[in-house]
Amino acid sequence: MEQTLSLEFLRVAEEAAIACARSIGHGRRKHSDMLAVEAMRKAMETVHMDGTIVIGEGERDEAPMLYIGEKVGMGKGNPAVDIAVDPLEGTNLCATGAPNAIAVLAASEKGGLLHAPDLYMEKLVVGPAAKGKVSLDAPVAENLKAIAKALDRGVGDLVVTVLDRERHAKLIEDIRAAGARIQLIGDGDLSAGISAAVSGTGIHAVMGTGGAPEGVLAAAALKCLGGEIQGRLVVDTNTASREKAESMGARFDHIYSTDDLAPGKHIVFAATGVTGGNLLEGVRFFSHGIRTSSLILTHLSREIRFIDTVKKADGDVTVRF
Ligand code: FBP
Repeated sequence: MEQTLSLEFLRVAEEAAIACARSIGHGRRKHSDMLAVEAMRKAMETVHMDGTIVIGEGERDEAPMLYIGEKVGMGKGNPAVDIAVDPLEGTNLCATGAPNAIAVLAASEKGGLLHAPDLYMEKLVVGPAAKGKVSLDAPVAENLKAIAKALDRGVGDLVVTVLDRERHAKLIEDIRAAGARIQLIGDGDLSAGISAAVSGTGIHAVMGTGGAPEGVLAAAALKCLGGEIQGRLVVDTNTASREKAESMGARFDHIYSTDDLAPGKHIVFAATGVTGGNLLEGVRFFSHGIRTSSLILTHLSREIRFIDTVKKADGDVTVRF
């Protein structure tokens, strides 16, 4: 399943990224998202899977495509898989031309990806070296010391990515007091989380509260990369949505581990850069083609692929290295 789907998922992520990249900087985030959703949905039609969306664009009544429960792929006779998608992670990043917008999807066998409610999740993400050495319950300074030790450097050498939100004022204060550096981002804690597990990206951890669905996608990638995410659902003040989340099995007092969020044995994860960033180049259009940069990960077959694709338009193309 991993082998077949990884190349097919590459094409799906590429199509979504290319479609919305046409709208970079146009200031229309919903429109950009729609372009990515439509392209991803269409590209999925020819994928050899009997897929069910478990993390998607929303509930059936609020999202016309890629809604939770929607069947995708070629259907019966193909492997039954659960699918998590974020056709455009960082809609504002795309709308403003800011870095790190990506098109993402992941698959696992049935039950291999947590059906997370659309709530906030407090997250802590580290790469392979610091895996098992941090805790969401520990003070920020203690976690930073553990990460620095694992990476054989000082706390002052670390860069922690944090979503630039008012709710993070205390977290930012604590990170600064501990002496670490901070990269404040407007959006996109999923891309940052993946980067924390890839050496050379300049990101050593991600801290703070973002979307729970993005947490599941991050867990799928981190499991393949050997990194770690810990997440705790944030209690919603809206009683109805809290009750709904609990009826789906959500636990508010629990620290979700990477394996809780992505328990699957088989995992395929694909991401293509929309705007350029720490991890991936953005989509580049030129006279006779389109160039994309993607990351494809598998869990059981232990493959990490960085893929540079040139899609040729008419005529011959001189490809530059
Ligand atoms: P969109 O792609 O839906 O715009 O979400 C981007 C994002 O920044 C995520 O990366 C993050 O987890 C979440 O939104 C944070 O939510 P909020 O903007 O409500 O703080």
